[in-house]
Amino acid sequence: MATIIDGKAISEDIQNEIAIEVQSLAEQGRKIPHLAAILVGNDGASETYVGSKVKTCEKIGFLSTLIKLPAETSENELLFRIKNLNEDDDIDGYIVQLPLPKHINEQKVIEAIDPRKDVDGFHPQNVGRMALNLPAYLPATPYGIIQLLDRYNIVTEGKHCVVIGRSNIVGSPMSLLMARNSNPGNCTVTLTHSKTKNLKEITLQADIIIVALGKPEFLTADMVKDGVVVIDVGITRMPSDKTKSGYKLFGDVKYDEVAAKASFITPVPGGVGPMTIASLLMNTLKASKKEIYG
Ligand code: GUN
Repeated sequence: MATIIDGKAISEDIQNEIAIEVQSLAEQGRKIPHLAAILVGNDGASETYVGSKVKTCEKIGFLSTLIKLPAETSENELLFRIKNLNEDDDIDGYIVQLPLPKHINEQKVIEAIDPRKDVDGFHPQNVGRMALNLPAYLPATPYGIIQLLDRYNIVTEGKHCVVIGRSNIVGSPMSLLMARNSNPGNCTVTLTHSKTKNLKEITLQADIIIVALGKPEFLTADMVKDGVVVIDVGITRMPSDKTKSGYKLFGDVKYDEVAAKASFITPVPGGVGPMTIASLLMNTLKASKKEIYG
């Protein structure tokens, strides 16, 4: 039977470790890490995500500032707010919650963020530095997955890692991180996507599979070999009459049957999801200590 990778527990461990460090910074009279978040509009899911980021910051002793702007905010107004955050020495790092309203150019906004404060790791400078294996802020989900592999002592060197999905925020960076000369890392990586032929032939050769497609129960037992490590990034809300809330969360993996063959597997929920906040906090701590850019 597979070891279930407990992302909730690991995320809490990391939060506790950071809380202890913040307390020691406070005792030494040093700067308390300060994260800001900009939320444009009132998308329900985005409000929940940002709310939970702010709450977690407060729980572990960080300072946090939430800037809520109306959906009609112009691109120029948003760029002005970003400039202010770039110039505010009190703010160590910040995020602009995505997606943005359609009239705002997301890429332009991302590129306006000072890379030294880009704790989401979305700025091309951080993406490029990551690709070159230079110190960089890593995007939350890939960084969280690296932490899980590390903390469960999963051997990656020399293994064949198959990544399914090539998004800018998960699949593509994940493939870079797994291939680079580091631990975790040093894998032979195959990055697969919607145009890949014979996917099953490829996944059957994988020692590690990272699925980030957003297609519920896509990865089935017949696609994996015995002993595989499975990291499920998918999280899709589906209506269900079996739960009180009226919906159920599904990962990209047909969990029960794949778990029966796997050596390690992440559940949904409680696997990769809770790690993203831990990554954001780790990045903000690094920003505050000027670890990446000096
Ligand atoms: N929307 C969904 N995930 C994220 C994230 O990690 N960062 C930001 N800024 N927006 C998001």
